[in-house]
Amino acid sequence: MKETAEQVFEKDRQGYLPVFQRYPIVLERGEGAYVYDNTGKKYLDFLGGIAVNVLGHAYGPLVEAVAEQAGKLIHCSNLYYTQAQADAADKLVKLSGLGKAFFGNSGAEANEGAIKLARKYAHQFDAEKSQIITALDSFHGRTIATLTATGQPKYQEGFGPLPAGFDYVPYNDIHALEKLMSEKTCAVMLETIQGEGGVYTPKDDYLKQVRALCDKYHALLIFDEIQAGIGRSGKFFAYERYHVKPDIVTLAKGLAGGVPIGAFIATDEVAKAFHAGDHGTTFGGNPLACAAANVVLDTVPKEQFLAHVEEVGTYFKGKLEALQQNYPALMTEVRGVGLILGVQLTKPGRDIVNKCLERGAIINCTAGTVLRFIPPLIITKAQVDEVMGILDTVLSEEEG
Ligand SMILES: Cc1ncc(COP(=O)(O)O)c(C=O)c1O
Repeated sequence: MKETAEQVFEKDRQGYLPVFQRYPIVLERGEGAYVYDNTGKKYLDFLGGIAVNVLGHAYGPLVEAVAEQAGKLIHCSNLYYTQAQADAADKLVKLSGLGKAFFGNSGAEANEGAIKLARKYAHQFDAEKSQIITALDSFHGRTIATLTATGQPKYQEGFGPLPAGFDYVPYNDIHALEKLMSEKTCAVMLETIQGEGGVYTPKDDYLKQVRALCDKYHALLIFDEIQAGIGRSGKFFAYERYHVKPDIVTLAKGLAGGVPIGAFIATDEVAKAFHAGDHGTTFGGNPLACAAANVVLDTVPKEQFLAHVEEVGTYFKGKLEALQQNYPALMTEVRGVGLILGVQLTKPGRDIVNKCLERGAIINCTAGTVLRFIPPLIITKAQVDEVMGILDTVLSEEEG
């Protein structure tokens, strides 16, 4: 029986581990860039399940592919081949120009697999070549290894002892990285564009210089594109924007348009370090998830689709910059590319997010003071205008 929102909140309070600071709505269904709560109220969704619903909600071909696959085979085991998984791996390898793909169920698992592979690869040359360098303010996941890779103490406190061998440098600071690297460096792992930490893009030739240092020290370059990949930057892989190729790239979030999946893709040379039994998963890359991924992989890489992301993203960024002119005391910077955009505020953003929600727009605040926009990639300029109208009204109230 359908319950009221208050009843659902209460049931949730009784049964669900309260690790999320939730907003007071019960979402029920979606269509394109809109979602509806259980009272029928409509919201423009500029969060997209945190960069997940790249094709929007209830996208016909995705719904059909999932329903068809569910009717045939939801799951078997990775002990057997499936057409859907072979297809998805083949597409990722061709898109990336790398060698082999592996599927897990989440971003954290993708990164966990990448870290394992990097360590195994490096240990072939030197058992002490184990240092993994990541960036401050990065986000790589919530498992013990990936929260250690995450360069933010707030995610690590209380979970020690943490795995050894992780060091941190400020993102975009090539000199700090150069100082820390040596022949003992196993890998440098970076978000191509930092998302959770506040939407930071790489400066000038930073990623090229990182690549050069990795080559110098025979260290692997791992790009975490869990948030910035799958077309979000206007290129299928964000690293294509910066003309730098990693040895391993990780994906998740948008890869199957909302069905849980994660993946790491490595060069053949690196992938060879894993032998049968070195890694595995029960669910990862099952036919249901891969059938969904195949729809995304047949849609997002198309030139026209990516051109749309670039065009709407540029339009959106221009609108945010124009808004910044009107609220210089509240908004100090607009960052990002494509449809991963951030606005630096001079105060915490949660109130603004709440007020936008009341007015029918779902937006997000990250790193306390950064409004983050990571909407479905199918949003239109008219929908950008709609959200900008709501934001303008809310900011004018904030300014008093
Ligand atoms: C860049 C990045 N890496 C890893 C993760 C972890 O992904 P998941 O929550 O699917 O484990 C996230 C999630 O926000 C992310 O943004």
